[in-house]
Parts: sequence; structure tokens; C-alpha cells
Amino acid sequence: MKFRFIEPEILSPKNESEQPVSYVRKEFDVSKAKKVMLHITALGVFKAYINGKPIDDCYLLPGFTNYRKRLQYKTYDITSMLSKGRNAIGVVIGDGWYRGALGAFGKRFYYGNKIKLACSIELVDDFGTKEITTDESWKATQNGPIIQNDLKTYETVDMRKEMHGWNDVGFDDKDWHNCVMGDYNGKCVPYEGEDILEHESFAAKVLKTPNGETVLDFGQNLAGHIEFTVNGKSGDTVSIKMGEVLDENGNFTTKNLEFVGKNQNVIGALGQLLTYTLKDGKQTYKSMFLISGYRYAKLDNWPEEVKAENFRSIAVYSAFATVSRFECSNEMINKLVENSRWSQKSNFVDIPTDCPQRERAGWTGDINVFTETAIWYTDVKKFLLKWLRDAVSLQKEDGNLPYIVPEVPMSMGKTKRDKNGEIKSMQLPNGSAGWSDAIINIPMLLYKFYGDNEAIKIVYECAKKYITFELKRAKRKHILNLFKGGEHFEYILDTGFHFGEWLEPGHSMQLDGLKAIFFPDSEVATAWLYHSVKEVSEMAEILNKNDEHEYYLKIADKIKEAYRKEFIKKGTVISDRQCRFVRPVYMEIASEEEAKKIVSDLNDMIIKNDYKIGTGFLTTYKVLYVLSKYGYNETIYRLLLNEKCPGWLYELNKGATTIWEDWLGIDENNVPKNSMNHYSPGASLSFMFAGICGINPTKPGFEEILIMPCVSKLLSYAKAEYRSVKGNIVSKWDIKDDLFTLHVEIPDVPATVVLPDGSKYSQNERVKDYSCIMK
Ligand code: BGC
Repeated sequence: MKFRFIEPEILSPKNESEQPVSYVRKEFDVSKAKKVMLHITALGVFKAYINGKPIDDCYLLPGFTNYRKRLQYKTYDITSMLSKGRNAIGVVIGDGWYRGALGAFGKRFYYGNKIKLACSIELVDDFGTKEITTDESWKATQNGPIIQNDLKTYETVDMRKEMHGWNDVGFDDKDWHNCVMGDYNGKCVPYEGEDILEHESFAAKVLKTPNGETVLDFGQNLAGHIEFTVNGKSGDTVSIKMGEVLDENGNFTTKNLEFVGKNQNVIGALGQLLTYTLKDGKQTYKSMFLISGYRYAKLDNWPEEVKAENFRSIAVYSAFATVSRFECSNEMINKLVENSRWSQKSNFVDIPTDCPQRERAGWTGDINVFTETAIWYTDVKKFLLKWLRDAVSLQKEDGNLPYIVPEVPMSMGKTKRDKNGEIKSMQLPNGSAGWSDAIINIPMLLYKFYGDNEAIKIVYECAKKYITFELKRAKRKHILNLFKGGEHFEYILDTGFHFGEWLEPGHSMQLDGLKAIFFPDSEVATAWLYHSVKEVSEMAEILNKNDEHEYYLKIADKIKEAYRKEFIKKGTVISDRQCRFVRPVYMEIASEEEAKKIVSDLNDMIIKNDYKIGTGFLTTYKVLYVLSKYGYNETIYRLLLNEKCPGWLYELNKGATTIWEDWLGIDENNVPKNSMNHYSPGASLSFMFAGICGINPTKPGFEEILIMPCVSKLLSYAKAEYRSVKGNIVSKWDIKDDLFTLHVEIPDVPATVVLPDGSKYSQNERVKDYSCIMK
């Protein structure tokens, strides 16, 4: 599709922090057309109207892609919205991801400094198609009610500037200016993602804090916006500031989201703020472009008594279908699952993000560990395919891959560009083990669950190039290992930048960050190198590229041997860190004999640690699986049910409604720290389906199923229902005294059922019940 872009701003933006939105309009004639199609996109985010009516319910169109290369457009059949004769199209355009504050440093203007719009209206009649496109005749103004806008920091509205009928026929736009032509050098692609829509809504409770603040508690942390009704007089200015928690004294705070540093006010104090100047009388408003991560809202200067019924918090996220249900006899576990579903919703707003408030960036490591859980919860194929296409489009010439997709600025300083406008690579987020590998690991999970190789085809060439890049990095030696010998060391990856295990209990972001730069953890990086090379060899096999399959398999074997030589001593792991025991087992690096010993040592370690979790970002999601493979069910359940910190249930006793980034997100003195809405530590909850209820695809796309629940008397029943691509699967068990009973429903595919006493059955019926005596 060839679009003509226009720029609605004739003046250059004043500065990087004050951007009014643009309103663009055009009237056009429709006399004989039988069908009218609209294709529309923008560099920025837009909301479009035909004859005063919104064209759809979507938010933040056209979504976030690697704008330098790819921009999505939407297509609508608008025939039924039009009348014979004169019609009008109106479009509001905000900064969005294109020009708004991005990432941890909240820098603006990363992708460009001029927002742009492109429309093509196709009028189809009996004689052919006529096209109306965006051009200089389209009129624009920046003098409407939204006088500042951003996706995560603020929206400032002055309703005295409301323009009645601006998006309808007959509006007097003589004070508006004509747009100027612009250009766009990337590729426009049809919309690939899921629509971003409003979903659940929550009523408010009005609180008065010890500091005298008026605060609304909506009871659920989420990503979304607040709809409010207010009655006042023209010129009254109110503000609504969104935050996730109350502080140790019960006062409103956003301190947990602030970084200590020069730009902290951009991310923290100034962030998530709606400022609204009233017109006269009763009025209702909700943000169009500001989406925040919050449960609480502090109101300032409210001109009337604050009544709960005047406020509603509305969740806004990508519309993916829920495909499962889980429940068990422990209400806290049920709540934990619910909380992690909310963290998914909050972090699936067009791209998968780390958190919905602070950075809101497409951190690849976060989605890498969470994908399996996301798949059990929802149908994420379309959503992730779109994101993977952006990941691939961001590969550097040397093969390196980003650890944030799409890219966001990674420094506070001025973004340095070369003469083609490309950002200097030093400033790009590239190449961390476990993070960048997502681009290889996620397609394999999509293949396992959905049974098609679309994702693999998208990433395959890029994955090979990345492996070549990684193997080159492995050949270099870190300064501390310069004199380390042995041929195997060529396969030990100890150079480059690697986040490492990241945030093990007691670790801080600052120290882990410094280690990532100066002393990258070669154990972590080498294990991921093996894991990804092995997956590339599997991809080659799936694509029937047998030579390449063999080639990568051989390399994978060499890395495996190098890892074993370097990191597995005397048949086990010598370390005081749980992650070191989990990784070689779940990645199948350790031999079977070693794995048995390693997991037995891990089990002892966890018992000694009073059943408290000790892993960080990259192994928390696998610890339960590793224990279950070798039958340590008691430990699994005690780990899960532990309410002390660190542990999954600790946060529930502190009132969490989403998953925290930090095991100690609220400490014993009730001081909150870090994000309260990070799905990564909740990535272990896929185990509810694949472990506790034991549902597993043994062939891609559930062509064959294994049901093998991992049970313990610490839970008396569990039930999982999952709508697989082959049909519904149910695994429901309970234990009464010593009797274990299991109810299994499967689609029309072969299935094997294994009971806790080891007995094994082939299930040919769609529905069957089993029982055995628990030992
Ligand atoms: C983010 C993470 C991310 C990490 C990199 C953090 O600031 O919030 O979730 O993966 O940086 O280690």
C-alpha cells in the first residue's frame, strides 16, 4: 500500500515536553459510491471519526512497531457510516510511542519529531475506484482541548477549548491551517496485532489518607484509564495522579517507581498525571492517549464533594482470548494465578512489556520467561507474531539482537545518530543472554503449543545470524579469563553485556546492572548459548533443512561439553545459588546422572532455606519443573505454599493484586519498592497447568497429549481446563484420605495418563475417570 503522508504541525514542536495533540479534518463527497474503504495510519497514535462518530473502539492505533522500518495501517469498510453527499473525516493524533516518553529514561522524540498522518479513502462504484488521499487540502489545528499529551507521563486537557462538531460536516475550520506534505521511508504493513480495547471496569472507594489527601482505591492494579464525572465551573483545574500502592503510613506514593537520578521526575513524580481544566457544568472525561499503571488515584483541587460513583477505572489492553481456567483447594494459589493474569493484561498493551508504569518497554527477557504461562492463559499467537517481526527487523548487521523490542532510548544523554539518522550502536540495547534469545526461544514455544511453524519461518535466518554472532563472542575472552586454557573455552561465552540471572533475592538492580557490564556471568551466557543453538538445530529439522540441523547440533554438543567441564564439577554443581542448580537441568545440559544429583542437592538446599525460593529472573520459572522431573513433590508444594519472603505467596498477605517485580516489593515495615506489576516472577504459574494438573503436548500442537499430574496431599484438589488448538482438555483431581481420583477430558487425539502411583494408561475415550491409592 502506497500512502501519502501529511504533517499537521506547521511549526516545529516548541520543546520536548509540551506537545498538544493535532486535530485533522477533511470533507469529501460521496455520491455514487457503492462501497467506501478507509486505509489509515499515523506516526503517532490516532483516533479517527467519520461524521462525528468514532470509527472503532480501539485505542493507541496503529500500535508500536519498529517505526524506522515498519508501520501498521488499519483498513475499514466505512460505507455504512457515510451519507449521500458531503461527509467528514476527523482524526486526533497524539505522540504515542513514536514521539512520546519511552523506556526507563523517559526520553522523547526517539523515532522522529514530527507526527504524521496518512489516509486513503477508496470510493468504489460501477465504473471503478476513486481515491481521496491525505494532501495539503486537509486542515489541522493544535488548538484543541488536549494541550499536552504522552502515553505514560501526562495528559493536560482544557475543556474550555472544546471544539463542537470539529469532526463532522459543516464545521467552520477557517482558523485551521493546511497540512504540509511529509514522507515516510519505512514499509506500511496491514495491522498485524490485536486491537487495544477497554475491558473490565472497577468502582472506587474514597479514602482520606493521614496526610489529608483524597485518594481513590479501585481495588485492582492494572493498566488503563479513569473515567470521571465532575461538576464545576469553567476554569477550575483538577488533577488525577495514578499510583500502585500506599506508602508505609497509608499515604499516596509513586516513589516505588522513581529512579534515583537526574531524570527521576520524568518517570516518577511527573508521570501518570492527568490535569483537567473544566468547562462549565457537569462533564465526563477519560484519557484518550494516557494509559497508566495504577490501583490508586490521588485527586487534587476537586471542586465538589468526591463521590465514589463518579469514578470508574477501566482496564485497557490488547484483546486476546482467554483459553483456560484453573482452580485448586488453596485460595491463595487461586489468587496468585488471578494476579498473574492481571499482570499479563497490564503488560500486553500492543507489545509485551516489563511493567505498565515505570519503563513500559518491550523487555525481551520478561516475555521470554513468561510466554509459556501467557500461552496457557490466552491465545497469544497473533500478538507475539507481530512482535517477533519487529524483533527480526531490529537485527544489527553483525547479527546482534536487541534486548528491548521495539527499541527505546537507553541513555539519559542526547541520542547520537550517524549521517543516515541511525542511532549509534553503543546506545542500543543489544545482546544479553536470556533476553535477546527470546527471539529464538519464543517461536519454539509457539510451535510446541500451536503446532505450526509460522514463527520459526519468521525468525530462522535471523536466529542463525545471531548464533554466528554469539559464537564469535564466545571465541573472545574476558580480561579475567585471558589465561584460561583448553579448547573448550572457545565455547564459553564470557564477553559482551549480559544481565545474568538478575535480581536473585537480596540483589539490587544497581549492582546486578554493574556486574552485567563488567563481569558478565559466563555460566548464564554459556547455558543460553547452548539452549539457543540447540533450538536453532530443532528449527532446521522442522523446516527440513537436515544439513543445518546436523551442523547446529554438533555445535550445541560442543557448548554442552564446555559448560559441563567448566560448571559441573564432580558430577554436581558447587554453588550457594539455587539458579546454578536449576539451569543445567532444565536446559538438559547435565547428563541424566548429573541431573539426578544436582536436583537432589537443590532439594536439600531449598529445605535448608526453609522452603524459600532463591532464584532470580532466569530460573524462577523453571524451578518447579526441575524438582518435579525427579519427584520432589513435597518440596514443590512447600515452596509454592510458603508465605514468607522470598516466596510467591508473601505478596498476597501484603495485599498484592498483581505480581511484584521484587520478592520484597513491600517490606516488613510496609515500605513499597520497585514495580508492583511485573509478570516475570509469575512465569512459574504455567506449572499449574503443565505440572500440578500435568497437561502436556507430547507432539506439537497437542497432536498427542500426556496427562501426568504432580500431586501432594498438601493440596486436596486441582482443576485445569485448557482450550488447545485441538480442542478442550480437562484435568481435575482430588485426594480424599489416601484415594486419588482423576477426571480427564481430551479432544480426539491419542493421550497417555500417568497416575501418582506410576500406573500408566492409554486413553482412547474423550472422557475418563481414574483412581489410585496415594503412597
Ligand atoms: C526491567 C526488567 C528487565 C530488566 C533487565 C528492568 O529495569 O524492568 O524487567 O528485564 O530491567 O534486566
